[in-house]
Amino acid sequence: MFPSLTSRIFLLVAAAIPTTVAKPEQIRAVTSPIFHYYLQAYPQDPIIPVMGPESSSEYFNIGSTIQSTNTSAYLNIGDDSTSYKTLTFADAGSTDAWALEGDTIITSTGSSFGRQLNFLVCQLSGSYWQVYLQMGSETPSGKTCSNYQSLHLPCLC
Ligand SMILES: *[C@@H]1O[C@H](CO)[C@@H](O)[C@H](O)[C@H]1NC(C)=O
Repeated sequence: MFPSLTSRIFLLVAAAIPTTVAKPEQIRAVTSPIFHYYLQAYPQDPIIPVMGPESSSEYFNIGSTIQSTNTSAYLNIGDDSTSYKTLTFADAGSTDAWALEGDTIITSTGSSFGRQLNFLVCQLSGSYWQVYLQMGSETPSGKTCSNYQSLHLPCLC
């Protein structure tokens, strides 16, 4: 039977809506020393994004911006002269370079950063590690750091 005009319009509208609607996701690391540590604000200074315990993990809407659904803060990339770029949480999203490649957080090829998927983490205290976008190989001196980390969704579901 030929579908009614109403149902044909419905099908057109439904087809225009992406089937993979992003949902709030946790973002985690998969390599020692931060294996299954999760992205969140540093409790002692919430503008600093850290990898920390799963129990205090935040959830994020991930598109060209990354926004915490817990705090509404956006994850922005700084313009440091070092190869590692400071990330900060802020009320406004000034970075629209983020993207997903499979389950991996990247900066998109077309962005001013190009396609990057390495992150540097440096220990702040206990199980909290500050996270930076890493575009080269530099690390800060005098800190305990781990280079070439990657960030992932917990699963492709
Ligand atoms: C963030 O929000 C999620 C979903 O609402 C919640 O389960 C989680 O406990 C929250 N995390 C924090 C640190 O409040």
